[in-house]
Amino acid sequence: MIAPAAIARMIADETARFTAANPRSAALAKDAARHWHRGVPFHWMLDWGTPFPLFAARAEGSRLWDADGHVYDDFCLGDTGSMFGHSPVPVSRAIARQGAQGLTFMLPTEDAVAVGDLLAERFGLPFWQITSTASEANRAVIRWCRGITGRDKIIVFNGCYHGAVDDVFVDLRDGVPELRRSLVGQVYDMREHTRVIEFNDLAALEAALAPGDVACVLTEPALTNVGMMLPDPGYLEALRDLTRRHGTLLVFDETHTISTGPGGWTGTHGPLPDLFVLGKPVAGGVPCAVYGFSADVAERMEHVRAANESGHSGIGTTLSANALALAAMRAALAEVMTPEAYAHMLPLADRLAETLRTTIAAHDLDWHVTHVGARGEFICTGTPPRNGTEARAAMQGDLERAIHLYLINRGILIAPFHNMTLVCPATTEDQVARLGNVLGECLSSLME
Ligand SMILES: Cc1ncc(COP(=O)(O)O)c(C=O)c1O
Repeated sequence: MIAPAAIARMIADETARFTAANPRSAALAKDAARHWHRGVPFHWMLDWGTPFPLFAARAEGSRLWDADGHVYDDFCLGDTGSMFGHSPVPVSRAIARQGAQGLTFMLPTEDAVAVGDLLAERFGLPFWQITSTASEANRAVIRWCRGITGRDKIIVFNGCYHGAVDDVFVDLRDGVPELRRSLVGQVYDMREHTRVIEFNDLAALEAALAPGDVACVLTEPALTNVGMMLPDPGYLEALRDLTRRHGTLLVFDETHTISTGPGGWTGTHGPLPDLFVLGKPVAGGVPCAVYGFSADVAERMEHVRAANESGHSGIGTTLSANALALAAMRAALAEVMTPEAYAHMLPLADRLAETLRTTIAAHDLDWHVTHVGARGEFICTGTPPRNGTEARAAMQGDLERAIHLYLINRGILIAPFHNMTLVCPATTEDQVARLGNVLGECLSSLME
């Protein structure tokens, strides 16, 4: 067991060490606070647990340099936006090329043809649309599902995250649905239109679908935002079967589980959903997301459009599918997110998971490591959670913060939100070994 006093001591020591080592970031943080609310251009940048934000100078492949000149082995990779490495050369080239030829026209370019073909071939769904973020793609998908089914309810799983999408911020606490407590300025009661159930609970799913009023089930194939939770064997197939039987559309949000393989979880394990969402790394880090859908869904969309007055659909934004995003996505899909890239990432992620397990076991800690392809995570409890309630109970905020700070001070970044690591095509065996060694030193220090 790790004593709370040891955790508090490590946070204090590592905070002081960070402050001493990062004078340039400290000065920039002070200057930035003149006009940026809370000192940063985007408030998530405060979530790293550091006493002030670390300012990035540049990044390449699996490494990042900060404003004070330190170099980091980056296992966070922009929390998936750069999951195929920072500034992959084909994407950089495409950006430079398109940058000189116009950025946004509200007209398609030739790249649209190639990207449509690449998406359909890779993910097995025939029709696609582009948005600027995965949040937006999920909002669009929910609207479409409600529009084409004429049903107002959706089902999500406890602990899910699909971006800044109001409809999904409903949690189960002690089995009771409630609005996510951290939401700001939310005035609607989403529970009127959203049912939330536990992942891996087939009986709850059947009951939630039974009234026949559910437009869609929106989920990641494996939950990755409340720790990482794998589906029980057969669960997704049953989900596919039940949704079909109840006339409910199935949406897989593969924004994170694209880590599984070139076709995401769907392409690797199946089943095929009716709609498919992918954001973050799909254009190599340029803001862009896609959603794909079956021919049946496409046809039903046409009926909805034909039946409505023309005008605002509530779907899409001005910069969606701009020329820059299309060029970057074409390069990312064709030249970066390749089977060869995964052939490097997946075995190295296996190695990373094994390294973490060995390190944890060497300290006699009963912690669990899980991974979905290139995306790994350790949780500070021995039993792998099967649902959101179990996963939330396993979280240990202070301990995680202490570990994160210790790693940052020794040149290693993992995702700030939980203990997530990503392996990209440029990640090396040495970087993985170093993560294991530094984590081992951190645990030894906590257990002194
Ligand atoms: C599964 C999933 N979907 C969607 C999103 C939203 O992505 P974005 O913030 O780029 O809109 C996230 C963000 O973490 C996510 O984890």
